[in-house]
Amino acid sequence: MSNYIAITRSSLVEETKVGCDLYLKNHINGDIRYVLFCRGDEIYSKARKGRLIEQNIEKLFIRTVDYASYFRYQEKNLQDILADEKRSSEEKSHVVYNTAKYLVQDLLSDPRSGLNTKVKRATKWVDNTVNYILHDKNAFSSLLKVTSHDYYTYTHSVDISVLALLFGRHIHLDIHNLKCLGIGGLLHDIGKVEIPLDILNKPGKLTKGEFEIIKKHPEMGIEFLKEKEDIDEKSLEVVIQHHENYDGTGYPNGIGGKDIHLFGRISRVIDVYDAITTNRCYRKALTPYDALVEMSEKMENCFEQELFKEFVYFLGPHSQGEK
Ligand SMILES: [Fe+2]
Ligand SMILES: [Fe+2]
Repeated sequence: MSNYIAITRSSLVEETKVGCDLYLKNHINGDIRYVLFCRGDEIYSKARKGRLIEQNIEKLFIRTVDYASYFRYQEKNLQDILADEKRSSEEKSHVVYNTAKYLVQDLLSDPRSGLNTKVKRATKWVDNTVNYILHDKNAFSSLLKVTSHDYYTYTHSVDISVLALLFGRHIHLDIHNLKCLGIGGLLHDIGKVEIPLDILNKPGKLTKGEFEIIKKHPEMGIEFLKEKEDIDEKSLEVVIQHHENYDGTGYPNGIGGKDIHLFGRISRVIDVYDAITTNRCYRKALTPYDALVEMSEKMENCFEQELFKEFVYFLGPHSQGEK
């Protein structure tokens, strides 16, 4: 496997430091060589960009080990990337999704260190993403396409946030509420970092004791987040209530009906939908259509019916194809 990965020229923002070295691929006497083009601590200037355009070079390369720092760079420049009219919605949606993926990976790998900074990064990502969704009419379908097929806590968290933002827009939430919902989505399973992996990824049925441990993750999540003043109460509702069922049979508090905050009711629907439309170690992903059928036939009690119907309507034509 090559130690280098291609990136596109258009993913770079001029007059910025990329933070990792950029290479060009050269063919020399039949050999492939990667030649340093711009060091990570140098400015990717207008002049450098001009040289690439002159030579018609669309692809640059970074070392595989620098992939995370490249997405960190994109995260920092997300606002400019999303405002750039030359970039397609597909490209923007990829950047939106991948930056969040690395951000949440960072957050979940060690939530005890620098949580304030990470929450600030999450807030900034949500601000930019909300802005993108509100202003680009193609954002909806292109973002829906980039959600993950495989389940990991971090991809699942990004999926929940993206789906919640799109659905929140669909039901006309105002900007402040959208942002709270989006942040709640990114953070909702943060408590899972406290659950042993062999329980979290167990292929077979969980024992009663194991399930009791899993059931603690909403409260553990709140433990991490409760003293962070930058997080709105409403975002915390997503964290604590996303496993509460509408008929009161959920956890951790077994509350039901409208005692569950709107964000809790929304996240319950989206959390189940994402969990069953992604590949798990114990079951293969259902298609969106089959997922909605299963949710309406076997899990009716979990959801507020009006909201669930709205969710089906929201996915509409998107439920026929792949997720
Ligand atoms: Fe959860
Ligand atoms: Fe979840």
